[in-house]
Amino acid sequence: MFEKLDTPQELFTYKLGSALTMEQTVLDMLGDLEEKAQSQQLKQQFHHHAQETQQQIRNIEQAFTAMGEEPEDEPCPAIKGIEKEGKANIKKTDDALVDAVILSGAAETEHHEIAVYESLITQAEAMGRPNVVTLLRENLEQEQHTLEHVRQASRQVAMQAAGQAA
Ligand SMILES: [Fe+2]
Repeated sequence: MFEKLDTPQELFTYKLGSALTMEQTVLDMLGDLEEKAQSQQLKQQFHHHAQETQQQIRNIEQAFTAMGEEPEDEPCPAIKGIEKEGKANIKKTDDALVDAVILSGAAETEHHEIAVYESLITQAEAMGRPNVVTLLRENLEQEQHTLEHVRQASRQVAMQAAGQAA
């Protein structure tokens, strides 16, 4: 798209395109995790977050429009790496422990997403784009809630697994 990013707007638009790829990848990951998770509660949580992710994709597309740009996806190798590592870990892990490995991948994903939205919001604020900030803040808050649920579920699963092993 750009040979070199040399204005704040170009940088922002490029990073917004990476965020679009990130969310599209997360949507695929969530479908996969819903299938692989052993606990019903976890399956439901992933299903719910997949619905939120569809809205997040629409918010990003609207943020492009608000910037006067066409939505265009850009590379996001970080999320592809998290996806690849998560898949490999699930394959290696016994079903009895798979929820723990799924949840650690989910936490890594959420932390990455949170960092991406925080930077985008900082840039949008600096450029004086309050409507874009509102859209991205909605996504950030959903990721923060999801991370909190992931943390709670991780503690439960780890306690259960440690109890069974003892
Ligand atoms: Fe997301």
